[in-house]
Amino acid sequence: MEGLLQGKVALITGAGSGVGRAACLLFSEHGAKVAAADINGADAEETAAMVRAAGGACIAIPCDVTDPAAVDAAVGAAAEAFGCLDIMYNNAGITISPVAGKGLRSLVECDPGEMKRVEDVNINGVVYGCQAAIRQFGKQGTGGAIVSTASVAGLMGYGGVLYGATKGAVVQLTRALAIEAADMGIRVNAVCPAGMLTHYAGMDPDSAHRERILEGMGKAHPLGKAIDPRDTAAAALFLCSDLASNITGVNLPVDGGLSAGRKTGG
Ligand SMILES: NC(=O)c1ccc[n+]([C@@H]2O[C@H](COP(=O)([O-])OP(=O)(O)OC[C@H]3O[C@@H](n4cnc5c(N)ncnc54)[C@H](O)[C@@H]3O)[C@@H](O)[C@H]2O)c1
Repeated sequence: MEGLLQGKVALITGAGSGVGRAACLLFSEHGAKVAAADINGADAEETAAMVRAAGGACIAIPCDVTDPAAVDAAVGAAAEAFGCLDIMYNNAGITISPVAGKGLRSLVECDPGEMKRVEDVNINGVVYGCQAAIRQFGKQGTGGAIVSTASVAGLMGYGGVLYGATKGAVVQLTRALAIEAADMGIRVNAVCPAGMLTHYAGMDPDSAHRERILEGMGKAHPLGKAIDPRDTAAAALFLCSDLASNITGVNLPVDGGLSAGRKTGG
């Protein structure tokens, strides 16, 4: 069976870890040639080596998504290496650092400098990725698919006020850009995961307590299972694939039913 992204070229940001790494591996498994971009070049290189070891084609690109010139250059490098760009996956994202031993930092406890950085990565990083991809699709005279990692925190109060505001911005950008870019044959969607055990927020996916942490995370969801980075990558894969050729402007929750509501009674 042909993969869902056979022959496509995808650029994935935040590719050195978590969801981005999972997406590089999954997109490649489905036939895509992948450019793995990350602010941490060594981590991106490690992802690229993993993809190549599994038989795929992947290059690593060091790139800070808050630098529009670097994002443009990353898109150019991906297109040059593989002939074109079909898919832009804006996945890089960060959150406000938690308070040690307490967890989420309340809005009034947030440092303005850190807030600006989170806004820059989570909002402008996605905006620059969309701009660069649209310019490239225009140059090619093709359409394309854009997907971003928003969060369930962009759909409901969850996971910190400032972080949620940045992800809400991505949710709204996805809808508005889908309308604007539809005439160009460009589809724009986002995935909205609930909590995953990745390096995000200073968590340790290799923690000795991994199973207990995952069990606790799962209890928060109607389906009872923690979200795996591969679950999010799979939703992104679908949205980028031709199976979703008539889907645009969608913010797809990957949250085990969390945002659907809550049980009544009992
Ligand atoms: N883990 C969660 O609980 C969770 C929940 C909902 C949404 N998300 C979102 O999922 C996405 C992926 O996060 P993750 O959980 O895989 O976290 P992660 O920390 O494991 O991976 C994020 C990657 O992004 C890279 N990165 C950070 N700043 C960057 C920048 N300026 N330019 C380029 N790369 C940068 C990091 O180096 C890292 O490799 C993020 O957008 C995050 O907000 C995560």
